[in-house]
Amino acid sequence: MKNRVAEILGSEYPIIQGAMRLITMGEIAAAVSRSGGFGVIASSGLEGERLRAEIRKARSLTDKPFGINIPIYRPNALEALEIAIEEGVKTITTSAGDPGKLIKRVKEAGIRMLQVVATVEMAKKAEGVGVEAVIAIGAEGGGHVGRDEIATMVLIPQVVDTVKIPVVAAGGIGDGRGWVAAFALGAEGIQMGTRFLATKECSIPIAYKQAILDAKDHGTLIAARQGYPIRVLKNKAALAVRNLDESGASQNEINAYVDAISKGSDDDRENKLMSAGQVAGLIQRIMTVDELILDMVAEARKVAQNLGKTF
Ligand SMILES: Cc1cc2nc3c(=O)[nH]c(=O)nc-3n(C[C@H](O)[C@H](O)[C@H](O)COP(=O)(O)O)c2cc1C
Repeated sequence: MKNRVAEILGSEYPIIQGAMRLITMGEIAAAVSRSGGFGVIASSGLEGERLRAEIRKARSLTDKPFGINIPIYRPNALEALEIAIEEGVKTITTSAGDPGKLIKRVKEAGIRMLQVVATVEMAKKAEGVGVEAVIAIGAEGGGHVGRDEIATMVLIPQVVDTVKIPVVAAGGIGDGRGWVAAFALGAEGIQMGTRFLATKECSIPIAYKQAILDAKDHGTLIAARQGYPIRVLKNKAALAVRNLDESGASQNEINAYVDAISKGSDDDRENKLMSAGQVAGLIQRIMTVDELILDMVAEARKVAQNLGKTF
């Protein structure tokens, strides 16, 4: 499956495992890359040596390429980039900030960079500074979403019409149908987060995985719309954060509340903020990463063939 995104990633399929803070470490990233996708270690929340150790762990588990994700606004963004370069990482994804801050060093080091964007304007800016591809994420997605809450279905074609660099679609993709739909909109790659949470290799607690399996189409909400919007599974904690946000609490107050409730047991599904996208409603079983990718490739091929007969 050769296209511009697979070429940038160096992977067999243009499927990126979205970085997930303090969740996607070396082991799952390696599993995804071994299966033909592109695994990504989240650097968010990892101090330098821990990040280096996770990169080395992934390297020990696969000789296929994998990447790291750097949220640009974080104070350790430049340090994470230097570690990636030192450790021989060839492709990174960046998010939450101005890609212009890293691009000079990225080009100097000869590595490839894909920037996460949530609007057409952000995509244009990323292309303007020299980023090689954008990952356009719609508001269906899990974790932090764009303030304007633009859905994937409308965001992707508008980004595709605006930039010349390849576009990876993210937000709401969980199977071969979603993959083909994204390609129909002009995307040349897909990134999934939530679908990878419900895999055997993912390190989150069983209760979190079960909550994803139990979620219905309306099972998530965007908490903290005024602060830092984040899509999470709907539970007591999510509703409390939404109320705090709507009553004008600062982001610091919200963070303090989240920290305080997060100390409970792993089995507690109500008093924890658990990021997940609307695609949770579609996820019915825990699979291995390998099963998931093989299933998606087979389903995407079938769906695309059947569509060919219709049109
Ligand atoms: C638990 C969780 C944590 C996330 N952490 C990050 C992160 O650290 N950096 C980032 O760029 N995106 C992060 N994301 C977004 C994902 O990488 C991905 O773009 C998103 O999940 C795609 O939408 P989907 O969940 O519908 O597949 C996170 C998403 C989730 C669900």
